[in-house]
Amino acid sequence: MKGLQLLATGGALPGRVVTNEDLRRQVDTSDEWITTRTGIRQRYYCAENEDAATLAIAAARQALARSGLTAADIACCVVATLSSPTATPSVACRVQAALGLPENRPALDVNAACSGFIYAAATAHGLLTTLGGRYALVIGCEALSRMMDPTDRTTCVLFGDGAGAAIFELAENTPFVVTLGARGSEAIRAGGPAACDTAPITMDGKAVFRFAVEAMPRCLQTVLDRSQKTQADLDWVVCHQANSRIIDHCIKHLHAEPPKFYKNMNRHGNTSAASIPIALHEMEESGLLRPGQTLACIGFGGGLTWGGMLLTYEGRK
Ligand code: COA
Repeated sequence: MKGLQLLATGGALPGRVVTNEDLRRQVDTSDEWITTRTGIRQRYYCAENEDAATLAIAAARQALARSGLTAADIACCVVATLSSPTATPSVACRVQAALGLPENRPALDVNAACSGFIYAAATAHGLLTTLGGRYALVIGCEALSRMMDPTDRTTCVLFGDGAGAAIFELAENTPFVVTLGARGSEAIRAGGPAACDTAPITMDGKAVFRFAVEAMPRCLQTVLDRSQKTQADLDWVVCHQANSRIIDHCIKHLHAEPPKFYKNMNRHGNTSAASIPIALHEMEESGLLRPGQTLACIGFGGGLTWGGMLLTYEGRK
């Protein structure tokens, strides 16, 4: 089977930086509480004129430019988000129009909350395999600040906004290993039937923590088992950046090497579906990704959902 190689990434962060100190003025919290419980020090919020789609478009433009491909090369556009400004048009359709992607190709949004990027990449792989085509644009983008109750200290300190985009190539001699799962639960809930702001994010933090520390190592182990690889074969593990302690639990449980686990929640908070592609983009920008490297990406979150996949980084064409 052909698998997915990562060719290039793009990223977009909104204009407003919100520090723990800023939040301390808004709710009864402290930098010390947030940092020790989550590892988060700041996050970005959308300004008035920004939303999940504007961020997605900016990240996608950058990824496409860096890939050395043109819009005509892109065979499908799949966007992971739970905070699209409109139910329709989808963010993917807005990206199609903004980048001038050919009209005879699919463009769709996928909502699997914080596992969304893994679900979207798996969807893109399926579309390339069934419809034909070589290159896919896969984006994760969120404007969670629009879905939060700013007076609820149990959630407003956790989430942030942003977008990351990836150009994948369906390539020969590349393993395709993916694991996806779901368990219907209201442990994280957001959005109502009419408008997002009618039902802000609520969460049973402790239940979600218990779920995450079980799901994350299980997904990583499944990816390794299915690809017949060991942790030593991985150059990087890029997990959903919900909380530093969740990643530390996973490292401990698997007796893994901490430096292989990229962490950036200190700068971004939890950006749900955007967190893995934002991390990939930062890693590419800072030269951490080298052609030929093998990565495992692991997502978990609302739904509840989880997912893991093996990736090879190839770099631009
Ligand atoms: N600042 C200060 N105190 C806060 C607070 C905040 N932002 N949020 C909650 N508290 C208080 C609680 O009210 C509670 O007070 P009480 O003991 O007087 O009732 C106390 O801190 C402890 O709360 P608790 O919920 O037990 O904290 P915790 O150790 O479980 O940490 C989370 C809370 C949210 C950090 C933790 O449960 C977690 O990380 N869960 C997973 C969340 C997540 O990652 N979700 C997304 C997954 S995709």
